[in-house]
Amino acid sequence: MTNFKALLAKNESETIQTAIEELTLSDLPTGECLIKVHYSSVNYKDALATKKGGGVVRIYPMIPGIDLSGEIVSSTDANFNIGDKVLVTGYQLGTAHFGGFSEYACVPSKWIVPLPTGLTLKEAMIIGTAGFTAALSIHALEQNPLAVTDSILVTGATGGVGSMAIAMLNKLGYQQITAASRKATASTDYLHNIGATTVTTPAELQLEKIKPLEKQLWQGIIDPVGGHGLTQWLAQLSYGGTLALSGNTGGLHFDSTVLPFILRGIHLTGIDSVSCPMALRKSLWNRLATTMKPDHLEMMIDNEITLNELPTAFNKILSGEMTGRTLVKIH
Ligand SMILES: NC(=O)c1ccc[n+]([C@@H]2O[C@H](COP(=O)([O-])OP(=O)(O)OC[C@H]3O[C@@H](n4cnc5c(N)ncnc54)[C@H](OP(=O)(O)O)[C@@H]3O)[C@@H](O)[C@H]2O)c1
Repeated sequence: MTNFKALLAKNESETIQTAIEELTLSDLPTGECLIKVHYSSVNYKDALATKKGGGVVRIYPMIPGIDLSGEIVSSTDANFNIGDKVLVTGYQLGTAHFGGFSEYACVPSKWIVPLPTGLTLKEAMIIGTAGFTAALSIHALEQNPLAVTDSILVTGATGGVGSMAIAMLNKLGYQQITAASRKATASTDYLHNIGATTVTTPAELQLEKIKPLEKQLWQGIIDPVGGHGLTQWLAQLSYGGTLALSGNTGGLHFDSTVLPFILRGIHLTGIDSVSCPMALRKSLWNRLATTMKPDHLEMMIDNEITLNELPTAFNKILSGEMTGRTLVKIH
């Protein structure tokens, strides 16, 4: 019986406790494919999975980790063979089904994306859910008129989704990419290096001063921050523009009016990476391996860590201190 290590989160009375534990393959949930995990990554949601009241995991104990890449070591699905390189993101991975912070994972084959040609297992996890969400956000912007010369705003710019969105827009040839970051001063060089043409610090919001229709500044906005910032961003979208909303690090609530929608025909599109249909998932991963693949992926690694270092990374991402991506090397 193979023994292996995983980060196990347990619900104690006051807190969620995490520890590296030794498990056997029989501890894993059922699924058609057993994967030897090579890499995972740290996402905001993984940190919430280890916090009491985080709202991400309902049943503990849980192995968190919403991302993994690795190779198939056994399969009862004829579509996957031993040695196939694969990646899994989203679905119930790391939330209701043991996830990627583990040396082995057993998953339903319908969750698995074959590693596209053009990506290594490591690169797939530098991208991870954050990068896939950025790709989905760009895809959402592309559904409405958009030219490479148009102005695009990316909020939460130093975070995983924000950084990846900037690097992908740059790769796609967009010429006016504005990065809005609370860490703008400290991270200006990083943000320019990954492709931002302008770097700004979001002004302190004075909601009572925001007009329903402000000067039209952006044809596209990629917003992983959410919250009250949306009040301003929706009022600043140009005629027919799109805001792709993926996150809530800035809060859950916002106020707006119908005016930008009915007078400027703007679009507000919600982004969900978890249940994204497999056909779109595969097609975006193929773009991520080719035309959308950032040129300097390694530059976007904030830290490469092991399973033991995950708790420190969780605290860092929850306090908004992460710049880029944290990669977890497992095998
Ligand atoms: N919808 C989906 O499928 C999906 C998928 C992935 C992630 N998400 C969500 O997207 C968000 C970002 O995820 P991530 O993995 O990129 O996290 P991350 O790496 O921590 O990035 C979030 C960024 O948001 C900014 N931020 C943090 N706290 C803030 C606050 N209180 N007010 C304003 N800005 C704040 C920070 O950027 P600056 O310091 O540069 O401003 C931070 O780096 C999370 O809410 C996550 O749950 C959703």
